[in-house]
Amino acid sequence: PAALFGKRGNSKGLDLTDPLAFGAVELARARYATHRWQAHSLIPGGGTAGAGRAVINPANHADTVGTVVEAGEPEVAAAFAAAKASGWGDVPVDERAGMLRRAADLYEASAAEFYALLAREAGKTWADAVAEVREAVDFLRYYAEEAANFAAPPRGPFVCISPWNFPLAIFTGQIAAALVAGNPVLAKPAPQTPIIAFRATQLMHEAGLPPDALQLLTGGPEVGGLLTSNPSVAGVAFTGSLPTARRIEQSLAENAVPDTPFIAETGGLNALVVDTTALTEQAVRDIIASAFQSAGQRCSALRILYVQEEAAERTIDMLKGAMDELVPGDPWLLASDVGPIIDTTARDKIEAYVSERQDRVMHRLSAPPSGTFVGPAVLKVSGIEDIPEEIFGPVLHVATFPSEDLDKVIAAINASGYGLTFGMHTRISSRVKKLARQVHAGNIYVNRNQIGAVVGSQPFGGEGLSGTGPKAGGPHYLPRFTTAAMGLQQR
Ligand code: NAD
Ligand code: ALA
Repeated sequence: PAALFGKRGNSKGLDLTDPLAFGAVELARARYATHRWQAHSLIPGGGTAGAGRAVINPANHADTVGTVVEAGEPEVAAAFAAAKASGWGDVPVDERAGMLRRAADLYEASAAEFYALLAREAGKTWADAVAEVREAVDFLRYYAEEAANFAAPPRGPFVCISPWNFPLAIFTGQIAAALVAGNPVLAKPAPQTPIIAFRATQLMHEAGLPPDALQLLTGGPEVGGLLTSNPSVAGVAFTGSLPTARRIEQSLAENAVPDTPFIAETGGLNALVVDTTALTEQAVRDIIASAFQSAGQRCSALRILYVQEEAAERTIDMLKGAMDELVPGDPWLLASDVGPIIDTTARDKIEAYVSERQDRVMHRLSAPPSGTFVGPAVLKVSGIEDIPEEIFGPVLHVATFPSEDLDKVIAAINASGYGLTFGMHTRISSRVKKLARQVHAGNIYVNRNQIGAVVGSQPFGGEGLSGTGPKAGGPHYLPRFTTAAMGLQQR
């Protein structure tokens, strides 16, 4: 990977095991504890004026992080006109890449502000916030480096639509790839996290990216619908839920020219198989991280643990004990391990799911009363077929299987239709090969946790219902943003 990033390699971020690193954390906490930001669209003629809507901290509803003024139809029309007239595709590729590298440096210099925003606007723990800034910086440098190896004509105005759960890294990764490939970008962040996107866009402009080549349109599904139904859209990079991906695909089929690229990264019903040869302590550590880090709000998160019958009692007992050590709480407090759910709609959906299955709850932590928290839960199921859809929170399902049923487990996982991440804990090498070969999943992890793919080393993306490919942070991503990949579904 170092070769892919030039001399600098992956961003180092902060080593939170080093007491000196806490200087940067303390700076963020001191400077941005009560700061209020004001976000709006960033288009050449200026965005809509107005007081805006309040953006509230999901961990503490008394904390207003700032305000956002959302875009409407006139801004979307003006943004497409400016993008088409931008001439961005004529800027030499090394200049485009240089701007991404400058943006990476500015992101690192602004890390303290991003950490604070990630905690207050997106409910991220400090460890998650540090990892996210690092990943965003990696995307900027990686695509800048990749662009030198790949040149093909751009497509035209690219719409980039991102989710709230990686409001900096995924927002930045989509934009960086589309821009460095020569396409002007109209970026729409999630309505829950517009401020992070606003600050990131300001820094990218500061790094030299012209305001007509990179535009920000704030708002929710309505603005997304306006963007993806505009006949001038030349491509869409989307990360979010499967139902939204289906709506966008439908809109492109009705409004865009045929063969408009649609890069969709969606959800998963991610499984982990633990057999009797697994080291229980190691498996449990990785189950905890995969299921409960980021409060389970990762597309890659573990949703169902399949544990071999003979190992079930010891694994589940230790899992319960390890869960009891977790601290759900406001991420602003350094001791918190499990932050809030992003908003009340999402929280209520998860709570309803768990309360309808009270008889299956094997273990549950209580949740802090303020904000939108959900206590991490473990539910007994007979298999993946008992899970009706992706539950986007700290809910882990557990099933047991007899050794002779491993093929049935594999068949059931594949029958779900999803294929994002898959994990295994086993010391039988023939089993590693069998599972890796037979389970359909984009990212497969052996004897480790199954979250936190590293840009450049672990290209990330799913198959089937989990995404169209190509994988982000890998060598096949950029061609899809150009005419070189016309007619191809590259992975
Ligand atoms: P979401 O689908 O509700 O929203 C994603 C984005 O789409 C938001 O910006 C939203 O405003 C926009 N949107 C909603 N309706 C739209 C429409 N009709 N037209 C255009 N845009 C529209 O998803 P979310 O709740 O923000 O994010 C969580 C989901 O994202 C989960 O399903 C998770 O698995 C998935 N996800 C996938 C990956 C991946 O890489 N595969 C990464 C992160 C999150
Ligand atoms: N890329 C993110 C992960 O691997 C979603 O967890």
